[in-house]
Amino acid sequence: MAIILDGKVVSQKVKDALKTRAAKLAENGNPAALAVIIVGDNPASRVYVNGKKRDCEEIGIITEEYALPADATEAEVLELVNKLNNRADMSGILVQLPLPAHINEEKIINAISPDKDVDAFHPTNVGKIMIGNYDFLPCTPAGVMAMLDAYDIPVDGKECVVIGRSNIVGKPQAMLLLHKNGTVTICHSRTKNLAEVTRRADIVVVAIGKAEFLTGDMIKPGAVVIDVGMNKNVDGKLVGDVNFAECEPIAAAITPVPGGVGLMTRAILMENTIIAAEKANNA
Ligand code: GUN
Repeated sequence: MAIILDGKVVSQKVKDALKTRAAKLAENGNPAALAVIIVGDNPASRVYVNGKKRDCEEIGIITEEYALPADATEAEVLELVNKLNNRADMSGILVQLPLPAHINEEKIINAISPDKDVDAFHPTNVGKIMIGNYDFLPCTPAGVMAMLDAYDIPVDGKECVVIGRSNIVGKPQAMLLLHKNGTVTICHSRTKNLAEVTRRADIVVVAIGKAEFLTGDMIKPGAVVIDVGMNKNVDGKLVGDVNFAECEPIAAAITPVPGGVGLMTRAILMENTIIAAEKANNA
C-alpha cells in the first residue's frame, strides 16, 4: 500500500500562499497579470487554458486571453507577443502548445521576453536552469519537486530514473533532480533493457506519453512513482503513464492521475506569474 501523493492538497497549499503575494502586488498598484495565447481549437488546449484562467481568478491574477483562429499567421502571433512584451502591466505571457503546424513553435517561444516567460521555455531560462541560477522553473518538473518536498521524500543520493527526454519535462526534470543531488538516469525510446534501469530507481518519473506504460514488474518494492502522463486509455478513461493498479501495491508512494502532478503544474505556473510580477516591480 503506497502513500498517495495528493496533488489537490499540495497544490492548494501552494496557491493559498500565492494569494497573499498577489494581494500585496495589487495593493501596491501593480497587480500580477497573465496573458494566455491560444491558437486554433485543440480541445485539450482549451481545457488546459480554462483551468489556468480559473487558477488565476482564484489567486487574484488578472488574465487576458487571446484566442486566435487556427489560420492565424506566424507573423500575427509574433506581433501579439511583441505587443505583450512591451506592456508594463503584463507580468507573464503563456503561449499554449501545441501550435498549428504552419507556425514555428521555437520562433514564438524565442520571441517571448525571458522576464515574462512563465513556462521557462525560452533558451535563456533553459540555460539558467542548467547552471542552477534561475528565476523560473518549468512548471511540471518544478511541480514534481514541490510534491516530493511536501511529503519529505529525500532526493539526495537517491537513484532517480526519468523516462522521457522532452524539453518541457524529461530534460529539465533530470536537471532539477541533479540539483538536489540525485543520481539521475534519463531513459528514452532507444534505451536498452528499460525495465532493468527502472528497477534500480528509488524515484521514477514517467513522462513518456504512453497510457499505463510503467507496469508493476518495472519498479522495485518501495519505489516512489511519479506519473506525469495524461492519456485516454482504450475505454476513453483518463489515465497516466503508470499502470496505477499494478504499481500502487509495490510502491512506497505514488501520484494518481488525475489529482497528481497536473494540479502541481498549474500551481507552479501561478507561482511563476507572481515571481514575474514581483521582479518587474522590485517587490
Ligand atoms: N501544452 C502542454 N503543456 C504545456 C505547458 O506546460 N505550457 C504550454 N504553454 N503549453 C503546454
